[in-house]
Amino acid sequence: MWLNLTANFLAKASTTDLCYDPVVFLHRIDNTSNKQTMNFQLSEDHIAIRDAARDFAQNEIASSAVERDLTGEFPYEIVKKLGELGFMGMMVDPKWGGSGLDAVSYVLAMEEISKIDASVSVVMSVNNSLVCWGLETFGTDEQKERLLKPLAMGQKLGAYCLSEPGVGSDATQQATTARRDGNDWIVDGAKNWITNGTTADYYIVFAQTDLSKKHKGITAFILEKGMPGFEIGKKEDKLGIRSSDTCSLGFTGVRVPDANRLGDEGIGFRIAMETLNGGRIGIAAQALGIASGAYERAIKYSFERHAFGKPINQLQAIQFKLADMCVKIDAARLLILRAAKAKDNHESYIKEAAMAKLYASTIAMEVASQAIQIHGGYGYVREYLVERSLRDAKITEIYEGTSEIQHIVIARQLLKEYELIS
Ligand code: CAA
Repeated sequence: MWLNLTANFLAKASTTDLCYDPVVFLHRIDNTSNKQTMNFQLSEDHIAIRDAARDFAQNEIASSAVERDLTGEFPYEIVKKLGELGFMGMMVDPKWGGSGLDAVSYVLAMEEISKIDASVSVVMSVNNSLVCWGLETFGTDEQKERLLKPLAMGQKLGAYCLSEPGVGSDATQQATTARRDGNDWIVDGAKNWITNGTTADYYIVFAQTDLSKKHKGITAFILEKGMPGFEIGKKEDKLGIRSSDTCSLGFTGVRVPDANRLGDEGIGFRIAMETLNGGRIGIAAQALGIASGAYERAIKYSFERHAFGKPINQLQAIQFKLADMCVKIDAARLLILRAAKAKDNHESYIKEAAMAKLYASTIAMEVASQAIQIHGGYGYVREYLVERSLRDAKITEIYEGTSEIQHIVIARQLLKEYELIS
């Protein structure tokens, strides 16, 4: 399926980005092993996938984005089509229903979808990087056949459930519990801020199975919608990404077969963290897309709007803003491509992913704010679209690890690297 799509779009692959076409040399210096310098160039396939995502976003998503932002309605039809095109399990092996693509392809697609609608891209991101990746990496063949395949093919939707009412950044403190009962587990507790919460079919849930072992006593389970005792809470009314679906979940004595345990007992926290490393690259790409969408709208407007007898982009005040936005977007894109490439190369990417997310989410806020400033009063109203960019950007500084957590992750990793080489 994906190959056909690629062939179609190869024919019309274009390299005409407004600011930057990511065909570059990227240098990576790995302090821990002295491996260094990698040439990184987008392949024709990468460009075709990026353009396929761009066309899909413009043709299939853009027309309903404003209305869905107002109503908060979930994009069911769009998600179904994304699945049919292979965007919901992009990095999954075709053997398990996926598109068999790399992380670079994934971030390119994420950026394009996010440029038009970050509510759609977060649905895609959670399914790809927080659910499919975890299942493919830690699941049994039986779980991959039964659960991963329909998720990767977009026939089912997944959710990742780590945060709780009283547990956010301090994720080792899981209050949700699971106790063994014969061949089953009994899960009790609650989860909060769950993306795809009401719409998902399968939920990766982290629960404490041995309190004495602290985070090494956490285990991951796959819960299925409809299991007795599994309650879906109210859908949140959010500032941004309003047509994505976020809700709380409650578990009262939910009986889960051991066949739905993901990975060994006690490795749940490791699964949660390793999954989030990849997820953070996806959210970084989402932030980049929000920024580049706002930036492109601001450039377009700067040609149309006249002041002091000329288009406003002939005024230095506006030029400086556009130049700053361009630099920040480029820098974020390079950090993201480096992190994605490190993941594809099976190198360590914990720090790279955190750096990419920290920086891209920071600049998404800055660029969206400046895009509004360039639009003046028009930027403050819904019609010109950039106010949504600012509202959507904010969450990228919060979910999949706040910016403060990214600082912690980066600092710990860089100190480890220095210890190793000193
Ligand atoms: N990758 C791999 N392993 C990691 C890791 C990472 N990024 N971060 C921590 N770990 C490992 C540590 O190496 C350690 O392993 P060992 O015990 O084997 O040595 C273990 O995890 C515990 O780590 P710490 O000792 O450093 O524990 P801590 O409590 O001091 O810090 C934390 C942990 C980094 C703060 C972690 O709790 C964290 O990342 N918190 C943020 C949680 C988060 O991102 N939540 C997002 C919710 S999901 C979401 O938003 C999804 C959505 O719907 C969009």
